[in-house]
Amino acid sequence: MPIPHKVKIVEVGPRDGLQNEKQLIPTATKITLIENLVAAGLTYIEAGSFVNPKWVPQMADSAEVFAGIQRKTNITYAALIPNLQGFERAIAVNANEVAIFAAASEAFSQKNINCSIAESLQRFEPVMQAAKEKQIPVRGYISCVAGCPYSGEVDFQQVAEIAKNLLDMGCYEISLGDTIGVGTAGQIKQLIEVVAKNIAIEKLAVHMHDTYGQALTNIFASLEMGITVVDSSVAGLGGCPYAKGATGNVATEDLVYMLNGLQIEHGVDLQKLMLAGEKISLALNKENNSRVARALRANI
Ligand code: HMG
Ligand code: MG
Repeated sequence: MPIPHKVKIVEVGPRDGLQNEKQLIPTATKITLIENLVAAGLTYIEAGSFVNPKWVPQMADSAEVFAGIQRKTNITYAALIPNLQGFERAIAVNANEVAIFAAASEAFSQKNINCSIAESLQRFEPVMQAAKEKQIPVRGYISCVAGCPYSGEVDFQQVAEIAKNLLDMGCYEISLGDTIGVGTAGQIKQLIEVVAKNIAIEKLAVHMHDTYGQALTNIFASLEMGITVVDSSVAGLGGCPYAKGATGNVATEDLVYMLNGLQIEHGVDLQKLMLAGEKISLALNKENNSRVARALRANI
């Protein structure tokens, strides 16, 4: 299949990127990050999550973040939610979209959301009902699609079934998450082939973490399979609180650089994006995890 002419980038830095940070990040810093990302041309930002703040304290101020953003038209400010309570909190601050999340492995489901996969799908039923009534689009994530930190190998057929379930429940898109970044290109192609047997490829997105340095390669392999929606995180921020040692998502700067090279349209200004990444890295007192940002900074 020829690679696509256009890719939609889903920026997850403010949520997936920051959720794992131990240090207190001021609400204003999060708001500035989101506004800088929008200024760089990103049109879909996962701005926070409405989960139990005892489990993920860094996201406890998501309501203040949503309330503080200078909203721009035609931008989707989305929120990750685990249940109806999270949905109501997200709607109270006018999140444009919500994302629910299930896992491809039972062990990860228990650690991440304290219930089985089947229970999690049941828990989403009232969320989907409420979202339908309020006409809020719902995105679905599946974590650990290429491997689980607790139980190892994952059955692609099981991923396909969960994806179909989430779509049948009303999700408009399923993001396949390699939460611990163990997948390799051949595996990811196989996974997409299995999942896309019963699902249109346009309804699938990929969400690659870079723990083993495979994220960009896996994304390229996904583009070759017809995927046109890719999640990424500015400055490669991230990690998952329930996947110890897993590093950040693919850096948005690195993704944009690759897409530029392939002449794939995406709408993002790399210079402005880099500035957003440098600013948040500085605020977090962290080295920027984007290889492209580091190389361009060093004028290579
Ligand atoms: P639980 O403890 O089993 O829940 O947690 P519960 O329903 O029994 O409720 C216990 C307490 O949580 C109650 O409060 C509820 O009110 C409260 P208490 O009476 O003890 O004071 N509660 C909430 N508070 C605020 N907002 C809510 C909410 N729900 C319950 N929405 C629960 C179950 C799912 C809530 C919990 O396990 C949880 O919040 N988990 C969040 C885990 C998380 O955020 N993980 C990271 C995101 S997933 C990810 O990063 C992967 C992804 O990026 C894909 C990839 O990388 O591949 C998406
Ligand atoms: Mg993630």
